[in-house]
Amino acid sequence: MLVFCLFFIVLPKKMSKRFSKVDNNKTQCNVQASKPCPGTHSFQSYPYSIARSQQRSGRLPPDQKITWRSNSGLTDGSSANVNLTGGYYDAGDNVKFGFPMAFTTTMLSWSITEYGTRMGPQQLDNARAAVRWATDYLLKASTATAGKLYVGVGDPNADHQCWERPEDMDTPRTVYSVSPANPGSDVAGETAAALAAASLVFRAADRAYSRELLMVAKMVMKFAMEYQGKYSDSLGPHDEQLWGASWLLRATNDKTYIRDIQSLGANEDTDIFSWDNKLAGARVLLSRRTLVDKDNSFDSFRIQAENFICKVLPNSPSSTTPYTPGGLMYKMSSSNLQYVTSITFLLSTYAKYMISSNHTFNCNNNIMVTSKSLRTLAKKQVDYILGENPLKMSYMVGFGTKFPQRVHHRGSSMPSLASHPSGIGCQAGFEYLHSNGPNPNMLTGAVIGGPDQNDAFLDDRTDYQHSEPATYINAPLVGSLAYLVGSYGSG
Ligand SMILES: *[C@@H]1O[C@H](CO)[C@@H](O)[C@H](O)[C@H]1NC(C)=O
Ligand SMILES: *[C@@H]1O[C@H](CO)[C@@H](O)[C@H](O)[C@H]1NC(C)=O
Ligand SMILES: *[C@@H]1O[C@H](CO)[C@@H](O)[C@H](O)[C@H]1NC(C)=O
Repeated sequence: MLVFCLFFIVLPKKMSKRFSKVDNNKTQCNVQASKPCPGTHSFQSYPYSIARSQQRSGRLPPDQKITWRSNSGLTDGSSANVNLTGGYYDAGDNVKFGFPMAFTTTMLSWSITEYGTRMGPQQLDNARAAVRWATDYLLKASTATAGKLYVGVGDPNADHQCWERPEDMDTPRTVYSVSPANPGSDVAGETAAALAAASLVFRAADRAYSRELLMVAKMVMKFAMEYQGKYSDSLGPHDEQLWGASWLLRATNDKTYIRDIQSLGANEDTDIFSWDNKLAGARVLLSRRTLVDKDNSFDSFRIQAENFICKVLPNSPSSTTPYTPGGLMYKMSSSNLQYVTSITFLLSTYAKYMISSNHTFNCNNNIMVTSKSLRTLAKKQVDYILGENPLKMSYMVGFGTKFPQRVHHRGSSMPSLASHPSGIGCQAGFEYLHSNGPNPNMLTGAVIGGPDQNDAFLDDRTDYQHSEPATYINAPLVGSLAYLVGSYGSG
């Protein structure tokens, strides 16, 4: 219940490579498997990180690569007389939570926007397809009923009381929505961010789709600003509106969004970044205007972004971030790697922005921070996730020689429809949750919650805090890997 805990507590309330030393060999190594960069884990793990088609809901396309999954959720939305098929299951369960799905989409889109050219054409296509599977759904959720944003399908309580394959689901597919009478400016802000960020992904590749995404993003953002009110009790007042407005500013350059950003006054300090708190992400994104576009009117966001980074660096006087003895950033006992991948993305991306203006900064007039120091920390976190840690365990399923075998994921832990065509009921499935055997279906590429504060990991399927994957753990990792792989050899 990684997510169970998070979502039970937060959402349903109102629902009522390892890089071996970078050498200076500038041979054109890239992320295509045909031209591996020697000695890099991340190079090899990179394509895995994008492969998340195991989480797809709806009618699967003919080119679906994961054959242990089949169509599911084909009547999603029918209880509200709308069509809400498609999108992604969130984690190890079969619920479509719109809030983290939108965050996943924003982070995957940000990864492509910053690092798409480093991905190589094949992986870029895969990454765009992964975004589109989400945005097709988010467009439906935003436009199916005028004045409503659908924010989830599937009763999480009922779902979590069963251990069922998505293909067998028989729990209530309750539809949740926000509207002017029942506002949710936080989930609307995140959805607007996702659609605006995705519009950048498709700007050259599919202009008509990109325009549609941007048009709907503007509409959803308007809703987020006009009907203030929170869908969840998540922390961070206005953080999603700031995030949504920042993405719309990036996608449109329309000064209206500068006014929105200023009106929000979202000035709290932060030392975290995740689907539940976007302040740091918005500040890094806005810093781009100062560092890359040389527009000094955004300098206050640069200062806030650097304040965040000083709270994360291990050697900074203002650091509030613990590290495990093995060197992993350790933010929370449950699903810690979601914070690691999200924050690592910000470190990588801030490093990239710093390079473009040869920028450095200080933490508390004490330590000097360079793009290189941020990249070194980002690389260390990624290396740890991929197996450079005391247990020599890769936390990415299917990658490396030792990786988790008993992942907390219903479909992966149960026999597939092909091997067991008859249905497995709600309670009957628990035999698979509690079995000691390895998961029969490999959840290739999924990154799970990760080790505890002492670098220990039990590989126990019932231990959801450490063994459950989630789409929003993977999405930011795609960008960090592309950055690290792409900067191989560039010093
Ligand atoms: C650079 O890499 C290429 C291809 O991996 C290899 O053939 C070559 O010997 C390397 N050169 C140096 C100087 O390491
Ligand atoms: C829902 O929409 C999809 C396309 O997004 C379509 O293929 C499917 O047939 C529709 N389902 C229903 C029940 O209308
Ligand atoms: C970058 O900054 C460093 C010191 O901060 C300076 O020595 C160097 O010349 C600068 N490089 C460029 C290209 O401006």
